[in-house]
Amino acid sequence: MIDLHIHTVNSDGDFTTKEILEKAELKKLKIISITDHNNINAYRDLEEIDIFSTYSGKIIPGVELEFCYQGRLFDMLGYGIDLDVMRKSEIIKRGFVHTTVDKETSILNHLKSICDGLQICYTQDLKINSAHNMANDVLLDDIIGYEENKAILDSLGIYDRSTFYRKHFCEPSSPFYIDNTQNACDVYYVTSLIHKAGGKAFFAHPFVYGLDNIVSIIDTFREEGIIDGIECCHRKHNEEQINFLLGYCDQYGLLKSGGSDFHIEKHCLGYANRGKYALTEEIIDDWVNDVPFFHPSSKSKKYK
Ligand SMILES: [Fe+2]
Repeated sequence: MIDLHIHTVNSDGDFTTKEILEKAELKKLKIISITDHNNINAYRDLEEIDIFSTYSGKIIPGVELEFCYQGRLFDMLGYGIDLDVMRKSEIIKRGFVHTTVDKETSILNHLKSICDGLQICYTQDLKINSAHNMANDVLLDDIIGYEENKAILDSLGIYDRSTFYRKHFCEPSSPFYIDNTQNACDVYYVTSLIHKAGGKAFFAHPFVYGLDNIVSIIDTFREEGIIDGIECCHRKHNEEQINFLLGYCDQYGLLKSGGSDFHIEKHCLGYANRGKYALTEEIIDDWVNDVPFFHPSSKSKKYK
């Protein structure tokens, strides 16, 4: 099995790079890619870890880059990237956290005022403690704990961090919307950066954004020749969506990839469709030998 979409503590995952390798070894995954948001520090960690005694599979150097398209945020996965080229780019220099406690506090205050209007309960002294606390996550974690909010949150389709983020925080028609696209790169920047770094660009989890026009967006990226493939198999894609995307890639000659988008323990490493679809090597058979695997550099502390 494989898993080409994994996060670590370097972005918003719960586990260190070493812990991810240990988990991948336990699951006997043959190929993995660590794809932190706008961040490749996991590969710096790998220079410090005794990889070969921790994990017996192969690692494709990867990243997940955020971009803005038609006023919304999306993600692009890059695989087989040259880490030195990527490290010099503006988006990676900026890193995962490009916010401040003050900025998140003002967003949190705005979100609280929206809750007031909708009569959603929240903890009055709720606050941002570090720039790693995203206001939308802090608020969601709080309001979801109030039993009296259940009916209204259900009616708004808010069940977890992801539904709050995608269907409200990033959705212009929601009262919770915040325009967080000002500093985002565009799709041409992220795909050309991945290509400049010798990698392949895969449009990440198309059905996660909850958009009715997602297929026409994929059509546009394909017709413009800016993507190499699509992340067909993803933790949140159901069987029908996975089969549609696999068929789409076959029809138009795009490459396929798959990953769990692993962040926390309850996510199933090596599986899509909420643990029901095993990610096999066949998905990536036709391109995996065209990208380099990660190998510690000669400067590595462990492998001098
Ligand atoms: Fe991800």
